[in-house]
Amino acid sequence: MVGCQWGDEGKGKIVDVLAEDVNLVVRYQGGANAGHTVHVGDTEFVLHQIPSGILHPEKRCLLGNGVVIDILEFFKEYDDLYNRGIDLDGRIGVSERAHVLMPHHLILDRISEDEAKYKIGTTGRGIGPAYQEKVSRMGMRVADLYNSKRARSLVEESAQRAQEKIASLGADVEKQFDSDLESTLANSKRLVELATDTGLEIIDAIRGGGRVLLEGAQGTALDLDHGTYPFVTSSNTTAAAAATGSGIGPTEIDTVIGVVKAYTTRVGNGPLPTAFDAAMNEKMRTLGNEFGATTGRPRRCGWFDAVLARYSARVNGLTGLAVTKLDVLDTLSDISIATSYRTPEGIIEEFPANTWDLGDVEPIYETLPGWCEPTNGARTIGDLPAPARQYLDRIEELADTPLRMISVGTRRSQIIMV
Ligand code: IMP
Repeated sequence: MVGCQWGDEGKGKIVDVLAEDVNLVVRYQGGANAGHTVHVGDTEFVLHQIPSGILHPEKRCLLGNGVVIDILEFFKEYDDLYNRGIDLDGRIGVSERAHVLMPHHLILDRISEDEAKYKIGTTGRGIGPAYQEKVSRMGMRVADLYNSKRARSLVEESAQRAQEKIASLGADVEKQFDSDLESTLANSKRLVELATDTGLEIIDAIRGGGRVLLEGAQGTALDLDHGTYPFVTSSNTTAAAAATGSGIGPTEIDTVIGVVKAYTTRVGNGPLPTAFDAAMNEKMRTLGNEFGATTGRPRRCGWFDAVLARYSARVNGLTGLAVTKLDVLDTLSDISIATSYRTPEGIIEEFPANTWDLGDVEPIYETLPGWCEPTNGARTIGDLPAPARQYLDRIEELADTPLRMISVGTRRSQIIMV
């Protein structure tokens, strides 16, 4: 399951529902930058690293090798779930090959952002600096924690490098470093107890006739290669990364569900071609409660962008689409969909690689009638008003992907399976 816009598509809820029919749920990229909000009855859970499958008793959840594990944040989340009565015994595994994100990565993230020419608007969760260390072949992996001497020297070296970089930028955070270092090492013993070979566990589950859900974070337009670079996250968020980030081959994956919101949102910087004007933006932000689950930042909102949806369908090889938050559009009399972009060179139907051009395109819209009645009670596609079905049909057609799920509210029951 992958996000097909700029993240925040409502993936947490879709995972929560799909998790019911699987044995294992696996995160394969990103870190604590994700914020998956799930409602179970009247209780709200916001999960950053642990897959939302954890809210289903008896499901096992894994963090794959492609994830950068924020060790302190991970145990905060773990302990919070435990304190709220979720049984975690034997239910969480972390890849031995996953990299460990340490507190100084968060400091580096914030300082780098302050210094950057183009501000990405990161979540400040240390994602870029942690992946930089991984790609530079200087990172620390969970398997390194087996040897406490080795772990200490890797943590110290990483902290030392961070400190030098921070000092070169004129900042001083020395005191905080020492205590962070010790708490990282203290928590690493706990992490070792959860270490596993995620690829092997997944293959064993599949060979044993089980089902596995690979859960993407962020979205296609934030993918390091396929997104709106440089305004992207530092990992591959798209479906192929589900294989590399969890330790299996691509041939093991038989279904790819792409999640899109019934409109578009974006948090952080970078172009959003279908952005609303200020008044409509404010209205949709309120209707859809569009504030970041991780940072609380207000999200920019816009109409559904079928150019992006079609591109996402292609780069992910989608086999099905899940449309979320349809009910947020219930009160609008007209609803638009961007079908192509007008550029100085002519009309284009493919999502452009040049992010700077994307900021200047003028979307060409098709406008459909709204339905102006509540959809949150619909439980089958037939319960939806005709204009809502027409809207979904058009999304399906433009994205060239069959519709599989529609969400019309925050509760588990408010999902229509198609
Ligand atoms: P980073 O992943 O914190 O480095 O942030 C890079 C970009 O991705 C920024 O624009 C963030 O706002 C965005 N981003 C990261 N994680 C999420 C997410 O879970 N939802 C939406 N946007 C995200």
